[in-house]
Amino acid sequence: MGTDNETNPVLGFDLGTTFSALARWVDRKGPQIIQNRAGQDTTQSVVYYNPDNDEILVGQIAYNKGLMVPENMIVGVKRLMDDGNQKVMLGGKEFTPITLSSLILDKVYEDAKMKYPTGTFNSRGSVVTVPCYFKAHQMANTRKAAEMTDINCIGIIQEPIAASLSYALQICEDHFNKEFNQKILVFDLGGGTFDLTLFQLKHTEDTMFFEVLASSGDDRLGGMDFDSCLADVILEKSGVSLDGVEPKLFNKAQRNLLEQSTLAKIALSASQDYFVAVPFILPDVHIEVSITRKEFEKSIKHYFDKISKIIDKLWSSSNLKPSDIDRVIRVGGSSDIPCIKNLLDDILGAEKTWSNINPSTSVAEGAAMYAAYMDNKDFFDKKIVIRTRTSHALGLKTNGNRFKELIPANRQAPCTAKQVFTTVKDNVKKLEIAVYQGSGRDISENTHSLIGKIPIEKLPPKPAGEIDIVVMFSIDMAQRLSITAEVEGEKKSAVVDYA
Ligand SMILES: Nc1ncnc2c1ncn2[C@@H]1O[C@H](COP(=O)(O)OP(=O)(O)OP(=O)(O)O)[C@@H](O)[C@H]1O
Ligand SMILES: [Mg+2]
Repeated sequence: MGTDNETNPVLGFDLGTTFSALARWVDRKGPQIIQNRAGQDTTQSVVYYNPDNDEILVGQIAYNKGLMVPENMIVGVKRLMDDGNQKVMLGGKEFTPITLSSLILDKVYEDAKMKYPTGTFNSRGSVVTVPCYFKAHQMANTRKAAEMTDINCIGIIQEPIAASLSYALQICEDHFNKEFNQKILVFDLGGGTFDLTLFQLKHTEDTMFFEVLASSGDDRLGGMDFDSCLADVILEKSGVSLDGVEPKLFNKAQRNLLEQSTLAKIALSASQDYFVAVPFILPDVHIEVSITRKEFEKSIKHYFDKISKIIDKLWSSSNLKPSDIDRVIRVGGSSDIPCIKNLLDDILGAEKTWSNINPSTSVAEGAAMYAAYMDNKDFFDKKIVIRTRTSHALGLKTNGNRFKELIPANRQAPCTAKQVFTTVKDNVKKLEIAVYQGSGRDISENTHSLIGKIPIEKLPPKPAGEIDIVVMFSIDMAQRLSITAEVEGEKKSAVVDYA
């Protein structure tokens, strides 16, 4: 049975920190990238607001305009999805990370529509991707952004799962009826986030079975950070200082410097040195300086060490060792940086890296494949089964702002956990169960995020310690967390999207 439909296709959106991509599913051909109106595979995830004519621009034009007036532009909205409703001011107008994300999705979608007669192109169903390391509320914010557009969002999938679907599709084409069982490591280092995911892929005649064995990462580690490191080196080597420069000039100088840093960083992945020029970084000040790959790599040493540690942690949390891995898939533009490539090759062996994959488009392609599957479960003559794990621990706030963990990180879904609590004061009339996701003994803004609250009212007057509050957490196959709290026979429950 076919899923493809020329003007009403299923789509996969990779909503990246720095670049976004869109793919459609074409029957018998697999996923296909839909280029933007400039003929590029990816669109910069940048929004610019011009207060003079109330115009919103997205993509490269927004970025280029932002070089001139940085206050009107935002780069890296995805990093703000932690608090999706916070105020973001662009050119004096208020936006939120959720609305800005929806503007990016809209733009990518509008560019696809442009290729067809007006009013004919309509998505039948779209899947949008999120990092594996996103917490429940960040994922829910992405879903909200998708729902504000008319892309017809039918699902959210984690980026490494999407990338490994693209990989699985490729090897299944060669071995359609062969059985195989592999452990694959997806190493995704993009513009803003680092995701490390270890899968078991079991392929049989009728099923593609993905099981996440372990995942790890950092949602504040990526190409944007490397750009800043290189910018500091450029300033230092050129002897130019931006200290004390008035804000408007400073923002513009910083933006232009970062722009040249990105170009230099990408060039240094291919060559050993690069000549950086930032003319008029300040009125009458120009930067001209030569940078070597060694200098760049030294400047990101702190992040490189963090990446090494995160890889080490993966072995201990999965009880596996590098030699157990059959395949490595490198995803994300920053995974092209030579010292990072070498790190992976040294740990896992260069021969294990799957090179038949485009690090910039495979996430959107895998999302399109998943959208096709969601739209029509028979499309591939195979069942796709995905089993994930919790990426962060889940628990409750207890006395003294302590975090009581109910479900640990890296626990396989579906799973359940139960805990009995009691009151600490006499005659408590009402209480609130606050559910958190994170790690560490004490709840703080940096380490934990609030997933939801369940109010419990009209408690019978009883001395402290005499009321039992039974809290039950349950994560189902569809990655939804249900929380039930039972007090004196009365049940209260809530369902939270969770990944
Ligand atoms: N050859 C290269 N060498 C080094 N860095 C590169 C190279 N090509 C692209 N990059 C960097 O990769 C990043 C973009 O990668 P990608 O498009 O995978 O990220 P993203 O999807 O926007 O981010 P994320 O997945 O973290 O949300 C940018 O920071 C870019 O500068
Ligand atoms: Mg990405």
